[in-house]
Formats: sequence, structure tokens, C-alpha cells
Amino acid sequence: MYLLGYDIGSSSVKASLVSIETGFCTAAAFYPKQEMSIIAVHPGWAEQDPEIWWENLKLATREVLASSGVTGDAVKAIGISYQMHGLVCVGKDNQVLRPSIIWCDSRAVGIGARAFSETGEQVCLDHLLNSPGNFTASKLMWVKENEPEIFSRIYRIMLPGDYIAFRLTGEVCSTISGLSEGMFWDFKENNLAAFLLQHFGFSAELLPEIKPAFAEQGRVNSFAAKELGLKEGTPVSYRAGDQPNNAFSLNVLEPGEIAATAGTSGVVYGVSDVIRYDPQSRVNTFAHVNYTQEMTRLGVLLCINGTGILNSWLKRNAGFTGLTYHDMNIAAAGVPVGSDGLVIIPFGNGAERILGNTNPGACFAGIDFNRHNNSYLIRAAQEGIVFSFHYGMEIMKETGIRPTVIRAGRANMFLSPVFRETLAGITGVTIELYNTDGSQGAALGAGVGAGYYNTFKEAFRGLKKLETVEPDLSRADAYHEAYYRWLEVLNMLVSSEQ
Ligand code: XUL
Repeated sequence: MYLLGYDIGSSSVKASLVSIETGFCTAAAFYPKQEMSIIAVHPGWAEQDPEIWWENLKLATREVLASSGVTGDAVKAIGISYQMHGLVCVGKDNQVLRPSIIWCDSRAVGIGARAFSETGEQVCLDHLLNSPGNFTASKLMWVKENEPEIFSRIYRIMLPGDYIAFRLTGEVCSTISGLSEGMFWDFKENNLAAFLLQHFGFSAELLPEIKPAFAEQGRVNSFAAKELGLKEGTPVSYRAGDQPNNAFSLNVLEPGEIAATAGTSGVVYGVSDVIRYDPQSRVNTFAHVNYTQEMTRLGVLLCINGTGILNSWLKRNAGFTGLTYHDMNIAAAGVPVGSDGLVIIPFGNGAERILGNTNPGACFAGIDFNRHNNSYLIRAAQEGIVFSFHYGMEIMKETGIRPTVIRAGRANMFLSPVFRETLAGITGVTIELYNTDGSQGAALGAGVGAGYYNTFKEAFRGLKKLETVEPDLSRADAYHEAYYRWLEVLNMLVSSEQ
């Protein structure tokens, strides 16, 4: 018997089949094979048509079933991890009214900043634990202000994962964790954020019904069953945003535990049982997957929009014909720490929360045509990503989260020795790499939600530590020297923005 987990990312949709008995992944598939495109008709905008998530989910499901030989009726429950903070608007008969405005779209930054000051900064921090920022509620306000005709036809709004669950089951629902990532949850009132809904002039009717993250949220309907090769009636029994889900996948559930990921975006995520927030909302606080109204479990989340996307941009655009990511990692390792003065700032993927929601774009500085080649570019990109993590982790410390050990899946940027060694070296934090990823975590979450596992511990019996990366103290000075050079360029860039 198997569990099926989906990870709906912004570059691909991944499906994993996990054996209920062993907790190990039996087969995995992702689509598209070339990264999914993000539509940006204006600078700072980012949209995707929800239909492409569904189409790629179909392909990944079909491949994972075919390659494993597992039949649809052996799949006992489904879990969903999804790109956070996106907005999907549907009309009365649940048709999608406009492309989804996704997490890295910056158009609503001004709307969120205005709402922060107009509703009262301390009110927002006390109730939402964040500024309304550039999250789903502000994106919906953008639609209200700029596309009133579409707004008037909205029957329900959903997060990307809610939409996928809806396509699977026909049921429209969300979770407390999901509502918190959209700024729709009031932690003080333990209820919908009525004050913000009122401020924006949104009816609470627009929001989906709330279901627990780990519980039956609907059952695969006949239409989806036919399209996917699954059995009608299979329960969808877990859903979470990709970052809380990444933490869950690594069994990061209790206060003090820290997870990280470095895909398109990069995140460090710490669990807390006391209310913590950054008054400037440079790092954010959301409800974790195991948050309940009775038990405070919050995720303090540092997000850098421009991480793996810089690496993939280089691969596609910098003339690295035929190079795989593995080849790029080898090339980076052949260049000394600090890339001989070449500095890359990775912020080219929308407004960066750690920079107060400004969007300075990416920047390459200090290129010497007679010394630097592609390998230097690749290493400087990886170092620049790491340094942005370090920069953000310094802010995170102000909220009381002080990582000493970080858990991550051995995936994406963590596959690069340069990336993980530089991250451990500059932050002084030990990194533990595990045999998991978001789609496997989502499958295990479904196992908990459908009652196949009675405890989280049971669900994680297959989780194995593959590698520990300790900070290399002998290189600490070189890492810091390179970091300060990077910081100087960043400061110049940010001050020229102001
Ligand atoms: C987290 C965030 C991103 C997206 C990526 O707050 O915005 O990591 O979840 O899908």
C-alpha cells in the first residue's frame, strides 16, 4: 500500500509514491522536464496559469504509476505541498477567473505597506504576526482595485494547494496554516482576520472553509480519478505550504528545531512555541503544520526569493551549453573561496522581504575579463546565494531563532558541496542532510492525516541522515572576507535604490 505526495512548485510539479510500511520512496517523477515558465508581463509581476500545475501533475502521476507498476487502487491517501502565498480566484462554477498571482509577484508591496500603516503596525503585528506585506490578501486587494470586473465575479479565493485539492476532490477548503500565510488568520482572536478583511472590504465568504492540515479534506472524484489513473474515493488527507511542509518532511516540528531549503527560493525555518515576530517583517511568522488553537507551533520563516533561480538562470542564459547542474557544481569547486573578487547579488526574483520588500534585482560586480571565466561565475553565484542566507539569518537571530543545527533534504542547491560548505562555514552552523524532499514529506503527511500512522515518529521511520557538514574553521576568515565584499556591493545597490 502506498501514499502519494505532490509538491506543486513554481518550476515543476513532483509526485512521489511512498510505501506505507517502510516509509521509503518507491518512485518519483517530476514535470515539466524543462522548468515551468513564470509569466511576467510587467517588471516585478509573476503569474502562472493553474491549469499548467494540473497538466504537469497529471503527467507526473501517470509517470510515477507507470514506472513503479503500482496501480491506482494501491494508493491509499494523497498529500499536497504547494508554493505559498499565491492567489487563485474562481467564479461561481469554480472556473479560474485570471492567472494565479504567485508568491514572487511584487505588485502588491505598496498595498500591503499602506495597510500596515493604516490599520496600525502594532495591531498587525499582534494579530497577524506580520505586516500584510506582499501576501495573498494584498494581492487580492490589487485585483479589487485594478480589475474590479473580475473581483466582482470572485466566488472563492484559494491558495495554489487549495486549488489542486479542489481539482482532485471538488471540495474547496484551506487550513489555518494556509490562511496565516495569506494574512487571513488572526492569531490573537484565533479566528479569521476580520479587521484586515474589513480594511480591504472583503467578505469572509470569499475564503474557503477551514479543515485540519492532517485529516480527510475530500476524496478524489470520478473525473480526477479518470484523468490521473487513481481510484475514485481516495482521500486527500494532508496539505501544507512548501516551507512548513519542508520542515515537516525533516521531522522539524518542535520548538528549537530548524529546517532549510534552497530551491527556486531559499528558506530557513525555525519552529517556536512562543509568539515571535520581526517588527519590520523581514522574516515572517506563520502557523506551522501542527499548529492548533490549543497548541502554539509557529514557523519563523526567512525567505530569499532569488536562490536556485539564479543558478537555473545562469544555466539557461549564460551560454553553459550542455552543462548539467552536477557539472556546474564541479566547476564551482575548482575556484577558490571568494571567487577571486567576483561578486554576485542574487536578488532578481521579486521583492525581497529581508530587504524591506525592495527589489534591487541581481547584480554582477568586479568581473575581470582576464581572470574570470564561467567557473568563477558559477561559484560567485553559489556564494552570493549563501551570503544572502547569512544576511537573513543575522536578522532571524533578532527574533530569538539561533540555529546551531539545520536540517535539509539532499536536494537542489544542497547537492552542491560549495553551497553547503560555504553555508556551514560562514554561519558556523552544522548542516544535516536527509533522504527526503517535499513530495515525500507530503506523502507521509497524508499517511498521518488518513490514520495510517498514529504518531509523527511512526511516519518518519524511513527518514535517514545521509551526511553532516561541519563548519570548516580553517576557512572561516576567507568566507568572512568574501562575505564583507558581497555586503559592500549589496549596500551600494540598496542605497542606490533609495
Ligand atoms: C515562502 C515563500 C517561498 C514559496 C516558494 O514564504 O514565499 O519559499 O513558498 O514556493
